Amino acid sequence: MCGIVAYIGHREACPIIIKGLHRLEYRGYDSAGIALLNGTLSVYKKKGKVKELEAFIAEKNTHATVGMGHTRWATHGEPNDTNAHPHYSTSERIAIIHNGIIENYAALKTHLQQQGHEFHSDTDTEVFVNLIEEIQQQNHCSLEEAVRLALHEVVGAYAIVVLSRDEPNQLIAARKGSPLVIGIGQDEFFLASDATPIIEYTNEVVYVNDHEIAVIRDGKLDIRTKEDIHQTPYIQKLELELDSIEKGGYEHFMLKEIFEQPKSILDSMRGRLEMEAGHLNMGGIRAYEQKFVNAQRIIIVACGTSWHAGLVAEYLLEDLARIPVEVEYASEFRYRNPIITERDIVIAISQSGETADTLAAIELAKSKGATIFGICNVVGSSIARATDAGAYTHAGPEIGVASTKAFTAQVTVLTLLAMIVGHKRGTLSETKLRELMVELSNIPAKVEQALSLNTEIEQIAEIFKDVPNFLYLGRGYNFPVALEGALKLKEISYIHAEGYPAAEMKHGPIALIDENMPVVVIATKDSSYEKVVSNIQEVKARKGRIIAVITEGDTVIPQMAEFVIEVPATSEALMPLVSVIPLQLLSYHIAVLRGCNVDQPRNLAKSVTVE
Ligand code: F6R
Repeated sequence: MCGIVAYIGHREACPIIIKGLHRLEYRGYDSAGIALLNGTLSVYKKKGKVKELEAFIAEKNTHATVGMGHTRWATHGEPNDTNAHPHYSTSERIAIIHNGIIENYAALKTHLQQQGHEFHSDTDTEVFVNLIEEIQQQNHCSLEEAVRLALHEVVGAYAIVVLSRDEPNQLIAARKGSPLVIGIGQDEFFLASDATPIIEYTNEVVYVNDHEIAVIRDGKLDIRTKEDIHQTPYIQKLELELDSIEKGGYEHFMLKEIFEQPKSILDSMRGRLEMEAGHLNMGGIRAYEQKFVNAQRIIIVACGTSWHAGLVAEYLLEDLARIPVEVEYASEFRYRNPIITERDIVIAISQSGETADTLAAIELAKSKGATIFGICNVVGSSIARATDAGAYTHAGPEIGVASTKAFTAQVTVLTLLAMIVGHKRGTLSETKLRELMVELSNIPAKVEQALSLNTEIEQIAEIFKDVPNFLYLGRGYNFPVALEGALKLKEISYIHAEGYPAAEMKHGPIALIDENMPVVVIATKDSSYEKVVSNIQEVKARKGRIIAVITEGDTVIPQMAEFVIEVPATSEALMPLVSVIPLQLLSYHIAVLRGCNVDQPRNLAKSVTVE
């Protein structure tokens, strides 16, 4: 986690860095800090959000054209002023910002303490900067050389930026496992964890690769490997729009992102669902089509909401393409001794493309010879680059910490994938394929219709906002939706919620049901509808309070449920794209009514780059 941003050029660095930190705040928001190089090396840092830092530096002299900033999600050491970044070395001549985690920090710290270095914080980062200082003192070398040598000694993940009072017209950065982008302007450079702080200044960027060191000195960028081999920077054009990272009149990013779904789903299908030409097209799998056709198994690795999208894909791929699928939590998969063969395809799903566990699962599967297909939202992200092939979801930047439009875009892309592979394998008939294509093209309008229930859902939220627990039930394609609904509620409203396959309720959770327990049942008209109706009866018999998401026109469930939310009918396989919408809105409104920080829920961060 953590967001880093830096600037070197001819403008005032401080406003650029502060604005950049606001953009990156989704990555962590327990403390923030800034270092400015202007003859001296000044560090200001504060517990809390970036706005606390802004207030703190308002009266300070922040004039400088070189600087760096950090917004933190704590790993080592509690959130406080001291543990906030940047960190000085003992002599206060060098400062560092760091996103990542240094695993061997304890051993390094003991050694550095023996050499006389002093530590003020509980962080691994302070060890890093003192290691650089120690190496520089021992070897009488440049800062660049000291950073390079230090990188050989640290074990773990990092994106760092280092400044030195003694080498004022220079900024050094390096990465391994945590993202780092450099924006190239006219005689100026912008560094950041992602492109959002850069977009309004330049659209030319270089994504720094693992084990590379970038040195910006006297207006020039030099990239070298850790082994000091010069690399030619690969300059790419950014396609990000500034509008897409602003709230656009909505109260929260999450609400904006929920309401963007008709468009983001359409964007994720664009160029792939060719209705007029009557075919499907996904550039990312073209070279691997035969591998998919012959796959003996597909393993899906992901975390959180992306894992829920993976569960939907399990139903889709088994149903439409008849390939056995296993859906794994990346964090479990990476530490088991999983059986993977060269005939397996591993699909890694990640909004951020930076999730450490998912990346590690990919590396493991790669080492066993599997083909890795990535489904990511963030272009140029680590996972997108670590996979053999893949498809971007094109949902646009997702800034609210709780994932919404990324989920529906992932499910859309996975649906297209299952349709393409099923058709190629002959398990999905031409007629069924056509039907699904037509239905998929209607999904944005149906999502729009589901969004029109917003006011109704807000009223339901008002009634349930103070309950301590919620249960979510669904079957078949709607089971992952139940899990996703429960996750959305707990992460932003801090209400305990559990998602269950509806039929599993009687094996335990039914004991929780009484007149105080709200039970959200996703009960749309599909092949398990009758069974779900029976499950609703079981809840009702125990006086549970039923909120049912039903298909428009259903006359049976309204007689049993206290509240119904009617969504438009669609194919069973596509229903998650519609039925998840009311659940996103329900959790959003409950969280707002409880006064929670919807976009930045406590303890969470948008991209989880630590394991
Ligand atoms: C939940 C949420 C998280 C992420 C998870 C994986 O709303 O956002 O559960 O889905 O941390 O993140 P990505 O998809 O970036 O790998």
